[in-house]
Amino acid sequence: MQATINGINIYYADKGQGDAVLLVHGFPLNHTIWMPQMRALVPRYRVILPDLRGHGRSDAPPGPYPMDLYADDLAALLDHLQVQRVVLGGLSMGGYIAFAFYRKYAPRVRALILADTRAGADTSEGRERREAGARLAEREGAAAVAAQMLPNLLSPHTRARRPALVARVQSMMARTKPAGIAGAQRGMAQRPDSLSLLPAIAVPVLILVGEDDALTPPAEAERMAAAIPDARLVKIPQAGHIPTLENARAVNRALLSFLADLDRT
Ligand code: MLT
Repeated sequence: MQATINGINIYYADKGQGDAVLLVHGFPLNHTIWMPQMRALVPRYRVILPDLRGHGRSDAPPGPYPMDLYADDLAALLDHLQVQRVVLGGLSMGGYIAFAFYRKYAPRVRALILADTRAGADTSEGRERREAGARLAEREGAAAVAAQMLPNLLSPHTRARRPALVARVQSMMARTKPAGIAGAQRGMAQRPDSLSLLPAIAVPVLILVGEDDALTPPAEAERMAAAIPDARLVKIPQAGHIPTLENARAVNRALLSFLADLDRT
């Protein structure tokens, strides 16, 4: 489905009924990384999966896209769908956006799911790498960025045993619009540190991380879990940076149990 949100076309999937669960993808991916979770949750919940600006089938206006802008897009999408409060999940950049959303719209958040993400801001070298990535996309296109990112993205198990999944993730990245890649990279470079937010998070939080995630390793997840008052950490075996696809069954189990516990409170 599609809606005009903050002046641009935003694509989203919206299925099921009940309490709303909004799941936000990472960079440079799209909503389909959460499809196995949508299938598992729709019998009990309303699941909303947006393509962020610059990604998937949504428009890619000129950037940068600060995390606050993404948060505003999500809030406007929820207004459009007449949804007041959600369980908000985000993978990697989706997690950075979840922090921004919580900072701006805390009353709209029933609980958080932080998958394969980190709370810290970029170092100055990290910001330089992002600018180089933005320029690579603008100069050579998304396929060059996909080729650079792919080797570190997925677990050794996925790379050795699931060639179709590797090809799918590669093509998802290669089809992202160069302007979207540049806009997101420059937006992420500007993001503030969220470490000081962690002790102030007043909702239940599920933290997920692929055991073999090389980009946001389990140590990052452990640090967040230690700093957030009501956090549950689940490490997903045989998964790298995209456990939602690499080990969907384990992620679904963790989500369903977290959501069932929320229902009881
Ligand atoms: C992502 O998966 O969203 C990215 O790896 C996040 C990042 O570049 O920091």
